[in-house]
Amino acid sequence: MLRGQKACVTGANSGIGLATAVAMGRAGADVVVNYVVGADEADKVVEQIEAFGVRAYAHEADVSDEQQVADMVARMVKEFGTIDIMVANAGLQRDSALTEMTLAEWQKVIDVNLTGQFLCAREAAKEFVRRGVVEEVSRSAGKIICMSSVHQIIPWSGHVNYASSKGGVGMLMQTLAQELAPHKIRVNAIGPGAIRTPINRDAWSTPQAEASLLQLIPYGRVGDPDDIANAVVAMASDLLDYVVGTTLYVDGGMTLFPGFATGG
Ligand code: BGC
Repeated sequence: MLRGQKACVTGANSGIGLATAVAMGRAGADVVVNYVVGADEADKVVEQIEAFGVRAYAHEADVSDEQQVADMVARMVKEFGTIDIMVANAGLQRDSALTEMTLAEWQKVIDVNLTGQFLCAREAAKEFVRRGVVEEVSRSAGKIICMSSVHQIIPWSGHVNYASSKGGVGMLMQTLAQELAPHKIRVNAIGPGAIRTPINRDAWSTPQAEASLLQLIPYGRVGDPDDIANAVVAMASDLLDYVVGTTLYVDGGMTLFPGFATGG
């Protein structure tokens, strides 16, 4: 579905990013596997992707560092010739009650989750605009896919830095979608719910925790990284070429106010 396209996935050595990078390779794309710590894991992801007969390499870069992001995209253009898909996925949590939250915890989450997406989108967009549409490759001049969250719209006590970053990602995505659509660049977001990854291990790793989490998920199961990876591939493909500026929630219904199934 993505044959001949060049994709960069940030934070691709674990969780949703890992599954997404592999799915991109399976769909025929050449893939840059970005990571910031965990070179061995990144190398394993590269091997998995290469097994599909496409190209891949690991690239260490901190997405919140302007120069490192610029260098990452520049190397991609050098090695792969261009970029067609930027999956701005890298993200983290530093949870704390408001009154305990340090400025450093606030700043770190905003830097990686929001500023990092701005930098990745900007560097990718420069190349998309320069190159324009190549019809044999894709109907669009490039795709930016922002990894958001259900917390783009669901407030989350004890996580004000994270929820604010994802609320910001929603507006970043919509504004960039509006600004870049005339260049035939599609910007969209994916909004995962509770997905079984290291970021939320505490929420699903014991039966009690999982039971309590399931009360928030009408569809009755915790998501798998592949649930998100498949949505990203679809969003990047020309099947969804007319989808511009949308957040696709992939959440088993978590955004349906499940408390109201019995209350209200
Ligand atoms: C968070 C997870 C959380 C999920 C649902 C995600 O964005 O990273 O920790 O389980 O949202 O609340």
